[in-house]
Amino acid sequence: MANVISITNLKGGVGKTTTAINLAASFAILEKKTLIIDCDPQGNVSAGLGVNKNIVSKDIAGVLTDQVNIYDAIHDTCLHYLKCIPAKFNLYNIEKFIRKKNPETILNDKIKGLHSIYDYIIIDTPCAVNFLTGSALCASEWALIPITYYLYAIDILEATLANIKNIKNRFNPSLNVAGLLLTLYDKRDYISEEFSNDMFADFNKLILKTVITYDLKLHEALGCNKPVALYDIMAKSAEAHLKLADEVEKIIDKNKKKMSMK
Ligand SMILES: Nc1ncnc2c1ncn2[C@@H]1O[C@H](COP(=O)(O)OP(=O)(O)OP(=O)(O)O)[C@@H](O)[C@H]1O
Ligand SMILES: [Mg+2]
Repeated sequence: MANVISITNLKGGVGKTTTAINLAASFAILEKKTLIIDCDPQGNVSAGLGVNKNIVSKDIAGVLTDQVNIYDAIHDTCLHYLKCIPAKFNLYNIEKFIRKKNPETILNDKIKGLHSIYDYIIIDTPCAVNFLTGSALCASEWALIPITYYLYAIDILEATLANIKNIKNRFNPSLNVAGLLLTLYDKRDYISEEFSNDMFADFNKLILKTVITYDLKLHEALGCNKPVALYDIMAKSAEAHLKLADEVEKIIDKNKKKMSMK
C-alpha cells in the first residue's frame, strides 16, 4: 500500500506547494517510488517539477471527470523516481461537471490501482474548504499541515483541523494528522520565536521536529522549475526536506507497528 499524504492548510501562501514538491522530491531521492498529484487549479506543482502544463493535455481534471485514464495522466519529472499528475486552471469548479453521489470519494477510487506501484503519493491542495481539498483528504491516510508565523494562524489552523476531522467522520476514518510543519521560519524574527513558542504550548504533540527555515534557495529553485535538492544540494532547505522525509517515514512506520499490534 502506498502512503498517501495530503499537504493542507486553509491559509494561502504557507508553503503547501513548496512542501509537496520538496517532500516528494526527497522521497524520490531516497529511491522511494513517489507520485505527486496536483489538486490545486493554480497548477504550481507541475511548474516546480519541470512539467510544462501548457503542453500537457492529460491532467487531474480529465481523471476526475472520467475523460482520462489515470495511468495516462502520469507524467515523468526531473527525477527518475518521481512522477506527477498535473493540474491546470480547468480544475477550477470541476465538481460542476461531475454527476456522482459523494464526488469527494472519486479520487480515492481512481488511485486504488496505484497503491501497488508507489511507496508514496503526495497530494497538493488549494487553500479552501472545497471539493478538491475534500477529495485529497478522502484519498489520504495522512494530512501534513505546513504553518507559518502569521499572527492569526491559530484560527486558520483550528479551521484546517476541523475540516480534516469532518472528512474523517464523513468519509475516511483512516485519516490522521502526520504533524504541523513550521515553514518560512526566521529565527531573527521575534514574531516567529514568540509564535512558535505559542504553538508548542497548544499543539505540542503535533509539531514536527523538522523546521523549514526561510531560504531564498527554495524560492529560486521553484523559479528554475526544480526541487531545491536539484538546484543546490548544499542548500539548508535541501537538507531540511530530506530530514522531513525521514521524520514523516518514521511517523508512518510507528503507526503501522501500532496498528499491527492491535
Ligand atoms: N522556506 C521558504 N523560504 C523561502 N521562500 C519560501 C519558503 N517556503 C515557501 N516559499 C515561497 O513562498 C511562496 C508561497 O509558497 P507556496 O506557493 O508553497 O505556498 P502555498 O501554501 O502553496 O500557497 P497557495 O495557498 O497559494 O497554494 C512561494 O513563492 C515560495 O517560493
Ligand atoms: Mg500552493
